[in-house]
Amino acid sequence: MDSIQEGVYFRSKERPDDFLRLVFLNFSPETTRTQAHDALLKLWGMLQDLKQGIVRDLRPSQQGDPDYRVPTGKLTVLLGYGRRIFDFHSHANDWISPDDRPYELGLKLPPGENQPFRSLHWGKNVNTEVAQSDLVFQFIAVNELAVNRAVVEVQKLIDDQDLPLSINVFYQGFHREDRRSWIEFHDGINNMVAKERIKAIEYKLLDQPWMTGGTFMAFFKIEVDLKAWRKLSRIEQEILVGRNKLTGCPLDSADVVGDCLSKTEISGCPMTGSIPNNAPNSFLNPPRSADSLIQSSHIHRSNLNRGNPGQDSNNRIFRQGYEFLDWVEGKGISVGLNFISFQRRIKAVRDIIGDPDWMGGVNFGGPEGEVKRPPAIELMSLISAGFYAIPPKLEPYPGASLFNGKSI
Ligand code: HEM
Repeated sequence: MDSIQEGVYFRSKERPDDFLRLVFLNFSPETTRTQAHDALLKLWGMLQDLKQGIVRDLRPSQQGDPDYRVPTGKLTVLLGYGRRIFDFHSHANDWISPDDRPYELGLKLPPGENQPFRSLHWGKNVNTEVAQSDLVFQFIAVNELAVNRAVVEVQKLIDDQDLPLSINVFYQGFHREDRRSWIEFHDGINNMVAKERIKAIEYKLLDQPWMTGGTFMAFFKIEVDLKAWRKLSRIEQEILVGRNKLTGCPLDSADVVGDCLSKTEISGCPMTGSIPNNAPNSFLNPPRSADSLIQSSHIHRSNLNRGNPGQDSNNRIFRQGYEFLDWVEGKGISVGLNFISFQRRIKAVRDIIGDPDWMGGVNFGGPEGEVKRPPAIELMSLISAGFYAIPPKLEPYPGASLFNGKSI
């Protein structure tokens, strides 16, 4: 049995429900460890009640009131701790020990042009700090009401009990029924089988006992430049992704002669648009291609070795992303992916995005350098990002031992 918190849908036959809210919070600077513990106890308790359909304002308060419960929408709640919580400059003297900070959380993602990664940069006028916060709550449910209500109930409890916390921002995400993303290709086709996933996500080291049996979350809110993407021909898009746009079948080879592009696919692929449950693994997880153009596609750069998830150098991650659609004043519609991945090493994600053989030299996929076809495009820009420690599920709430609230 594992101790990974609910909200990481990695177990056999589990699929994450359709609606996501991520809420990022900071403690106010003068909060003590005891006050933080008290606030988390209250918030966690309230959210556990909400999962049972108990809403604070609807609790029986007069004689004869019914024990009323709302439909829960199958709400799940996950709690994570960001790098900032270990930063004693941002907190009072009586704070948690910086020694409890997991090495994996690394340094803050720096602001500025051409940051934070070599080929994946912040968008214009974004707040690079808001999602590098003390805490994150992830809410997932089958309908919008259940996830929205969780956000509002958090704010109501903070106000009612004067908790020393404030919400920096929250983000919304949803799943598409067709299992495609805004670039219209399928997303999440190759995400490992359940027994492989646990090897990729579970933190087993004993150096930080409060994290043993937990996992780490990487969050990137990535805006997609649809105008640039839609200027590419279908075959250019397919070579950048590494799959057929309509069927999801993996490409085997590609060629550029002058202005003419051609491709072949791995033969015998049974997929025809929707991904069947029993599709053979060789099409979900195609072997590394001998063709250099296909090797440089997104699916091969992001999973270069296709090796055992237990081995560090294979950088295996479990993705659980959600699309977003926003209105940005002065700009208009903004679309993209709340990229969320769980892994036992944040370094795996940093290496995928940073290493030149992986995605380091390109923004999404394709060959590096002065190539005309498929052209190098800047598809992705970062709107927000942060890394979080997701401790194992334990009483009274995950990570309580950080605040001396006994959990290990
Ligand atoms: C808006 C941003 C992104 C889009 C639209 C996107 C799209 C896709 C698509 C269409 C696939 C192929 C279908 C599948 O196998 O799931 C894929 C696969 C994958 N992507 Fe992305 N992706 C994005 C960002 C990222 C980032 C930032 C990373 C890494 C940090 C990443 C890692 C992966 C991995 C590991 C796979 C599976 C490859 C395989 O094993 O075949 N993606 N993505």
